[in-house]
Amino acid sequence: MERIRIRGGRPLCGVVRVHGGKNAALPILTATAAIRGRFILHNCPAIRDVEITCEILQAQGVTAVRKGGSLTVDSTGLRPGPIDPRLAGRLRSSVLFLGADLAAFGEAVIPLPGGCVLGARPLDLHRAGLEALGVETACDSRGLIARGRPRSGTVILRYPSVGATENLLLAALGAEGPVRILGAALEPEIDDLCAFLAACGAELRGVGTSCLTLTPQPMHGAEHRILPDRMEAATYLCAAACTGGNLTLTDLIPAQLAPVTQALRAAGCTLDEAADRLTISGPARQAIPPLRTGPYPGFPTDAQAPLTAALCRAKGSTVLEETVFEDRFRHVPALLAMGARIEGGGRLIRIQGVPRLHGADLEATDLRGGAAMLCAALGAEGETLIRRAGLLDRGYQDLVPLLQRLGAALEPE
Ligand code: UD1
Repeated sequence: MERIRIRGGRPLCGVVRVHGGKNAALPILTATAAIRGRFILHNCPAIRDVEITCEILQAQGVTAVRKGGSLTVDSTGLRPGPIDPRLAGRLRSSVLFLGADLAAFGEAVIPLPGGCVLGARPLDLHRAGLEALGVETACDSRGLIARGRPRSGTVILRYPSVGATENLLLAALGAEGPVRILGAALEPEIDDLCAFLAACGAELRGVGTSCLTLTPQPMHGAEHRILPDRMEAATYLCAAACTGGNLTLTDLIPAQLAPVTQALRAAGCTLDEAADRLTISGPARQAIPPLRTGPYPGFPTDAQAPLTAALCRAKGSTVLEETVFEDRFRHVPALLAMGARIEGGGRLIRIQGVPRLHGADLEATDLRGGAAMLCAALGAEGETLIRRAGLLDRGYQDLVPLLQRLGAALEPE
């Protein structure tokens, strides 16, 4: 999909089954390069980032076959293989092959990872964590290199980095003894990785807390169900908040979305929660108190861009602060082109609600920024064209047909 053309102004109505989480599926898939075995991953989203990860795995002798929502992965033929820099450069989570390859082969060479451009995305925490376990790390023309068997010990993360926590868990699979991570990230996707590793035989303590201990054990294949995608869910909630209408999301864990649903309630949307479903009736009518993103259970940075779109037509002014990434308001110029009033930039913006947005010719900046443009376009008057819309295929399964089914008027080109 190169571009999406959207005719806005139609309320979203209907039911959406939330897919499996991108940010849970990617580390779990990468973990199969650290463990020899056969795996069945249910609820695995059919998105571009999963396909790219499978391509990287293939070079290491790992096969993956999809049947509906389930991916059967076979890593019994696991062998060291080079990671194609063009593939690694297309997604951030390729950095997790550092820990996986280290555990499997005692050495890892990974080209520098890609992913969304959200400002500097250093890997110092990943490296310092491995070095605290006695692993040598270096950077040369091939990328990032790690060498040596991790010893048993404690790593203290000075910031609860999601990627660094995951990389250390994977590296710990090949350690000499227990590895404790203090200051681990609390994101539900970390819990899901731990659940998967435990199903494969690892001994884990402290799951769900910031002090995680993994004790390596003989590992084997397993069957696992990927947890629901809270960012896909947040995006559809914000889309409904942009358009009005009545949307029910099923197969999700509402508690994990509490910061997002609280913000949307404050904006005047009606939200009804049941055990595994959420119903939203929009639109977002009023500004909300100042809100800042933060590590879980803070407001998720990935939902900030769609929320910005939802607040563009909310009466009054809202201040949003981004504390996780340094350059995560890259969607704002597109919203301005649609008639939004937003001041500031960098880490802080103030949104002044306007009565209406209008269509514009836009270009997606990053996955969630592109999603924000789409949300705004669905609620805007007139026609919007989003270029570089292929970025959205990285993280949203069946995006266009799904929105069409909900009553939206949009076409891929
Ligand atoms: C993951 C998610 C991403 C989400 C983010 C925060 C995946 C594939 N991506 O990204 O969608 O937005 O968590 O919830 O799961 N940092 C350092 N040094 C490091 C590592 C990180 O300074 O070594 C900084 C980053 O630059 C950023 C902050 O820490 O400012 C958060 O990064 P991190 O939690 O590592 O996010 P990712 O794992 O990259």
